[in-house]
Amino acid sequence: MAEVDYLRISLIDRCNFNCLYCMPEGAELDYILKQNLLSNSELLTLIQEVFIPVGFQRFRLTGGEPLMRPNLVQLVREISLLPETRDLSLTTNGFLLAPLAQDLYDAGLRRINISLDSLDPDTFDFIIGKRGRSRWPDVWQGIQTAHRVGFDPLKLNVVVIPGVNDAEVLDLAALTIDRRWHVRFIEFMPVGNGELFSERGWIPSEELRQSIRNRWGLEESQILGAGPADVFKIPGALGTLGFISQMSECFCDRCNRMRLSADGWLRPCLLNEIGQLDLKTALRAGVPLAHLREKVKQLLEIKPEINFKQRSTGTGGGNYTRTMSQIGG
Ligand code: GTP
Ligand code: 5AD
Ligand code: SF4
Repeated sequence: MAEVDYLRISLIDRCNFNCLYCMPEGAELDYILKQNLLSNSELLTLIQEVFIPVGFQRFRLTGGEPLMRPNLVQLVREISLLPETRDLSLTTNGFLLAPLAQDLYDAGLRRINISLDSLDPDTFDFIIGKRGRSRWPDVWQGIQTAHRVGFDPLKLNVVVIPGVNDAEVLDLAALTIDRRWHVRFIEFMPVGNGELFSERGWIPSEELRQSIRNRWGLEESQILGAGPADVFKIPGALGTLGFISQMSECFCDRCNRMRLSADGWLRPCLLNEIGQLDLKTALRAGVPLAHLREKVKQLLEIKPEINFKQRSTGTGGGNYTRTMSQIGG
């Protein structure tokens, strides 16, 4: 069983995009009220006094869209300065990144994952559910700026949707040939919005690998990361290709992470809600931190069971009262 040392921290549940794989169409989401978001200082207390002492050392900031979080740069600085922080990263849609990239880098952030589901502005806007002026140029600018500022590794996430962007897989893969960018193809996961696709809404990673292999060849590779991607590269390419295959392959037995929601719920598994802990209410009620550490430790002990329950029976999970945008992927 993998050691659980990776915490995905959702900083805000709001997002300036409306991606079709992430938010159910027409859904009225109840956003977390400002007073119910964990503050920067509450987050730091939890990280320092609860998560680090029980073994977490790698932190990823997610959303919603984390760049919409006020005082993000200050929070990044504080987490990156903790001597126990071994890895700090951020997952963003990139729309607000260009003007923030340098400040984030200066605050100590060194790696970023950015969604880029299409190279075609119209397809991109369709996927992110936005009409009017295209958001694609801002995101592309965000990626270029992050590259120039020095974020490394710089990863681009592509959720592959049949009939929408699957024809672009080779073009997206080609980005890695002469750039040190790392493109990851993600099998669409029906979390809270499975009914969106009447047919199978995902393409097995092996199918994508086969078409890339046919074109250029493909070899196993590696890149710094804490997530579930299987990493390959086109021979001679500067960057790598990752495949995140949660539908065709079960990676629960190498799961090394938990998730903290923006309103302070600790979630032991992406795919179900068993065992969640309300850390914010406990913290605000003055429950001693030693007691919270104990609770998290107990959750760590039963975590493997929670993962497997979902996968092996197909019934323990699937309990999604939150969308991906609210969980943070
Ligand atoms: P690295 O540290 O760079 O490896 O990051 P990562 O791949 O963990 O992070 P990112 O936020 O870029 O997530 C990429 C994809 O992996 C998203 O679609 C996530 O939903 C998915 N993912 C991350 N963790 C899990 C998990 O525990 N279970 C499942 N099923 N998918 C996950
Ligand atoms: N299936 C797979 N990946 C998803 N993401 C969001 N929703 C889904 C889904 N239903 C990905 C986004 C982003 C990351 C945080 O999660 O592409 O890169
Ligand atoms: Fe898209 Fe990410 Fe926003 Fe979800 S949270 S709508 S995946 S940009």
